[in-house]
Amino acid sequence: MQQNSRIVAITGASGAVYGLRLIEVLLKGGDDVSIIISPSGFLVLEQETDLRLKGNSVAIAKGLKKYFGRTKGLLTCYPSDDISSHLSSGSSSPRDMIVCPCSMGTLARISCGISGNLIERAADVVLKEKGRLILVPRETPLNQIHLENMLKLSRIGAHIIPAMPGFYHKPKKMEDLVDFVVGKVLDALGIENKMYKRWEP
Ligand SMILES: Cc1cc2nc3c(=O)[nH]c(=O)nc-3n(C[C@H](O)[C@H](O)[C@H](O)COP(=O)(O)O)c2cc1C
Repeated sequence: MQQNSRIVAITGASGAVYGLRLIEVLLKGGDDVSIIISPSGFLVLEQETDLRLKGNSVAIAKGLKKYFGRTKGLLTCYPSDDISSHLSSGSSSPRDMIVCPCSMGTLARISCGISGNLIERAADVVLKEKGRLILVPRETPLNQIHLENMLKLSRIGAHIIPAMPGFYHKPKKMEDLVDFVVGKVLDALGIENKMYKRWEP
């Protein structure tokens, strides 16, 4: 279990770019990243980006490596149905996991401990091992089920960092908005960063 090893899951909420940028920054900073993408995550990723990821997890890892270019950290991809992966086990899984973006479906299933796929199981493991689970939900408007699920997860220690970029840093382009949200995730991980200009009164 290495200190600089993290799990990043991309689910089928809008905002795949947040997940991609987060993975890129972690890898370039020297973290090893285990990536899990849900089937809906792939679908939305195709809708929202020019990235086309096809084939098994080795081919997908290859596609992502090409997309990110040279990085210090190692990238590994896991199929979301690979429940026998080491990410499923409290004895060998990393202690930090970020679901970015996080769909309301995955959030609901994590909040109920469903563990029906590798994303949900890995999140369940991080919670039971008292690691850091960071969820980046994206939905609007929110219904009471969404709000209650977020409250439940927050109460048991998960970080809820909604994909809600601020504007006080005067963003000039879309990348600035993405970096604001990713910067907030890095803050929660305790990683020093200059992803966004901090408020100076
Ligand atoms: C283009 C597109 C955008 C979507 N955006 C959202 C979203 O922002 N938030 C959300 O909770 N679900 C969104 N969904 C629905 C989820 O993809 C759907 O609920 C899916 O079952 C989630 O599966 P997953 O949690 O396993 O990834 C979107 C679906 C599509 C096709």
